Amino acid sequence: MDGNRRYAKKKNMKKGAGHRAGFLSLMSMLKYCCELGVKYVTFYAFSIDNFKRNPDEIKDLMDMMLEKIELQGNKIIFNQYGIRVYFIGNLKLLSEPVRIAAEKLMRATANSTNCTLIICIAYTSRDEIVHAVQGSCKNKQEEIQPLSFCKANNGAFEEVEDNNNVNGVIPFVFSESQEDEAAKSQATMASVTCCCLAGGVEGGGDKNSMAVRAVHGSYEDKRDNYQAMMENRTSNGVTPSEESENMQGECSIIKLVDIEKQMYMAVAPDPDILMRSTGESRLSNFLLWQTRECLLYSPHALWPEIGLWHLAWAVLNFQRNHSYLEKKKHQL
Ligand SMILES: *[C@@H]1O[C@H](CO)[C@@H](O)[C@H](O)[C@H]1NC(C)=O
Ligand SMILES: *[C@@H]1O[C@H](CO)[C@@H](O)[C@H](O)[C@H]1NC(C)=O
Ligand SMILES: *[C@@H]1O[C@H](CO)[C@@H](O)[C@H](O)[C@H]1NC(C)=O
Ligand SMILES: *[C@@H]1O[C@H](CO)[C@@H](O)[C@H](O)[C@H]1NC(C)=O
Repeated sequence: MDGNRRYAKKKNMKKGAGHRAGFLSLMSMLKYCCELGVKYVTFYAFSIDNFKRNPDEIKDLMDMMLEKIELQGNKIIFNQYGIRVYFIGNLKLLSEPVRIAAEKLMRATANSTNCTLIICIAYTSRDEIVHAVQGSCKNKQEEIQPLSFCKANNGAFEEVEDNNNVNGVIPFVFSESQEDEAAKSQATMASVTCCCLAGGVEGGGDKNSMAVRAVHGSYEDKRDNYQAMMENRTSNGVTPSEESENMQGECSIIKLVDIEKQMYMAVAPDPDILMRSTGESRLSNFLLWQTRECLLYSPHALWPEIGLWHLAWAVLNFQRNHSYLEKKKHQL
């Protein structure tokens, strides 16, 4: 939903007025979607990165969100269309009044089933993935104890225990930022476990954020072999996911589905169409995991200028391209 501020400037309005215009656009797009029979509509309302903006602007935005969440008129619309509302993201980062209002609205609409509205707030896709991996690790923590190959990992943890006060509890700490040394070393430890666990994740994990050199013992060899094999197989035209499925039985406990279940977006299927205003074709940390076979449509209009015409065009393009997209999906 970008372009609100540019819209205000273009129309010589106050900055906040752009966001209000953007909100009107959101509500009308939501209604159009429901009327067209779209079952899931997701909006990227506020990124974690947006917290870096000017504090006054953030405050105005949060005040506006609170107002809109509590607005009776919106509740009537949700009721009328049978819309269930989810707020997803790192909701702890929100101010308490906004979070409480959001939770209340989620509860109030929990029985509606005709259409699902998902508002991504304090969200980034990377944060979602990290959160999901952490959740999967936590869930599997007890299950991994009896497995012999994980003993090598326990050994690795014992070595660092003193520094980090681990006391036998595996710290599942991840860090996106490379700046904080403490976080970095903890993140490294966490990835030691998760290398062990995540070997079966498609593509073998992201080297920058997950790969670790500090694993001792047999698992390291296994993992190196695995990576070499993946590289060979990929270049031979065999898809990595096939390979990773074979490997899953052997040395990994956390599977793709475990992570998907932990995603904030687990409440909805992967989207078919992603529309981004202002002609930008970057995803900007939005639904990176979920958009692998998604049609990207980026009209030049600023978000408040987006209307039924753009939606109709997006759906038309999707329909024209449907058989192509389906074919691609089944090739995976
Ligand atoms: C929800 O959908 C059902 C079946 O299509 C319909 O009968 C019902 O009126 C809808 N409810 C609302 C609130 O739109
Ligand atoms: C949703 O349905 C459940 C079970 O029928 C009921 O107990 C609950 O009060 C309903 N919630 C709302 C908000 O209507
Ligand atoms: C990868 O391919 C090279 C060259 O074909 C081969 O020498 C090597 O053994 C292969 N590695 C694995 C792990 O299969
Ligand atoms: C469908 O997708 C393909 C591949 O991206 C593209 O070349 C083609 O132009 C698209 N067709 C339509 C009708 O959008």
